[in-house]
Amino acid sequence: MTAPGSGRFITLEGGEGAGKSTQIARLKGKLEQGGHAVVATREPGGAPGAEMVRKLLVEGPTERWDGTTEALLHFAARRDHLRSTVWPALKRGAWVISDRFADSTVAYQGYGYGVDRAMLGKLYGIAVGDFRPDLTLILDLPVEIGLGRAAARRGSETRYESLPADFHDRVRAGFLDIAAAEPERCIVIDATRDIETVAAAIAAAVHARLGA
Ligand code: TMP
Repeated sequence: MTAPGSGRFITLEGGEGAGKSTQIARLKGKLEQGGHAVVATREPGGAPGAEMVRKLLVEGPTERWDGTTEALLHFAARRDHLRSTVWPALKRGAWVISDRFADSTVAYQGYGYGVDRAMLGKLYGIAVGDFRPDLTLILDLPVEIGLGRAAARRGSETRYESLPADFHDRVRAGFLDIAAAEPERCIVIDATRDIETVAAAIAAAVHARLGA
């Protein structure tokens, strides 16, 4: 982590319906009990400007943008999120938990749409620099289970969900590849299990890696 301050940056990643928001609320509560100030946030979004970009990305017809345009929009939203929310919170010493970060761009736009991953790496450098999450938890589960869960609760944010199952299969494989390539940063969590079991696995991972 390159931002000053003693906060840590934790990201939760995974396909649709993996249970990230429930688990983020659990982890936030646990860290707060341990005496940390915690900011829970999300991507795309997490700051007023980035939330405006989110609407462009998650609503409307699937064919609205091509993969490269999407990647640019996600990185524009991400930079605003970092500057407005994440970096100031870390600087204050808060811990930040983000529901998705740049691994989602690699998995969805890179593996899902086939956008060149070297180009995504360049965009990362431009938008984010050398800042990285301290820990990334990848909530993994079969696509059909995740899409079923997501469909049960989704309002107008259906743009990605409407993509075919083979797109989501590539996204899942992408996240697992990222985890295999960066084991020092990433931990894969089996998200098919019940909420309590997944919460305990996440708490154990955070304790093992970050001592909290
Ligand atoms: P959410 O449903 O987890 O809030 O995420 C919104 C959608 O945005 C989800 O379908 C994944 C997608 N997404 C990308 O395609 N690329 C990205 O970089 C991010 C952050 C999200």
